[in-house]
Amino acid sequence: MHTTKQITNNIYYVGVNDRTKHLFESLWEIPAGVSYNSYLIVDEKVALVDTVDACYSDLFLSKIEGILGEKPIDYLIINHMEPDHSASIATIKRKYPSIQIVGNAKTFGMLDGFFNIKDNLYEIKEADTLTLGKTVLRFYLTPMVHWVETMMTFDETNKVLFSGDAFGCFGALDGGVLDSQINVDKFWPEMERYYSNIVGKYGCPVQRALAKLSNLDIQTICSTHGPVWQKYLQKTISIYNDLSLYQGKKGVVVMYGSMYGNTEQMAEVIADTLVANGIENVVMHNVSKSTPSYIIADIFRYQGLIIGSPTYSNELFPLVESMLSKIKNRDIKNRYFAYFGSFSWAGVANKKLAAFAEQVGFEVVYEGGVEQKFALKHDKYVECVKLAESMAQRLNNSPL
Ligand code: FEO
Repeated sequence: MHTTKQITNNIYYVGVNDRTKHLFESLWEIPAGVSYNSYLIVDEKVALVDTVDACYSDLFLSKIEGILGEKPIDYLIINHMEPDHSASIATIKRKYPSIQIVGNAKTFGMLDGFFNIKDNLYEIKEADTLTLGKTVLRFYLTPMVHWVETMMTFDETNKVLFSGDAFGCFGALDGGVLDSQINVDKFWPEMERYYSNIVGKYGCPVQRALAKLSNLDIQTICSTHGPVWQKYLQKTISIYNDLSLYQGKKGVVVMYGSMYGNTEQMAEVIADTLVANGIENVVMHNVSKSTPSYIIADIFRYQGLIIGSPTYSNELFPLVESMLSKIKNRDIKNRYFAYFGSFSWAGVANKKLAAFAEQVGFEVVYEGGVEQKFALKHDKYVECVKLAESMAQRLNNSPL
């Protein structure tokens, strides 16, 4: 038996919670779990929107049967083919063999490739409609939010947007689905972390999708992860808009690697000076302890980024280097940048960090950085202070 969760008179929530997995996509921590959301639209015809992770296929099916009984499902709408939403398609097809699978041409290539499904396909194109009775659905292609086949389905009758991953967040749904029923505080940082980790590379496609949606009278957003947004709908859209524009808040991430504490000592001086110069939001990340998921989220959150690295085998400290690749991959823009590091016989790290800044187009606020041989001495201490003062001054004068 399951509790029936209704979104509107004829839309039901049939998603599931995952509080078992440690790493989403085998990469990103989900200490508060995650939900895989799916929705049933019941009219003269019945449509199911997206499915759930393979681990939950049986539970998913029993939730659907709890609502429909023996009534069949006519359409399965696939807004997104990543397997956290598509892996139960075969189960659904076995139970409802005549179901029509609704998607675009790219959806169907993936459906064949992942699951060898080629029949009962109902192909839609941009702005096509599907009528279920009173309910009229219209489809919008939103490629690269965050896969190539991604699309959204707008229920014009109920003014409900089924948005796929967009507007989603990490965090299981503990007892409620509608944002008006639950305390949503835990979801805001998890929305930033979800966006930056999963969607972060695709700011431009997200902006194009937001422009496309801006003319719709959306009253409810049903994402594939996290709460259904009604009460906080505008706040949710605004967060996605800011993140996709890479609009960080006033603050600085000081991310560093340090084997024996010398680079870390420089990081401490820099952080102390930032705060002394009016920067309240200073987040320090030792890359040997903080994980990429949380570091990336903070880099999306704040305008300033200062990276410290020892020279290691004539290269950057490996965990710093790995983070640089993740930052590059996300095409993060509009960051004020500075760098520092230490070495024992040949300094290489600062040159590499300077090259990184040039490659990604960050504005360097203290040219040349600070590089210390062995432990921190007074002259380099003074330079660390100057570096941090330059960053604080740039942020204090920034329009954002
Ligand atoms: Fe939630 Fe891109 O899958």
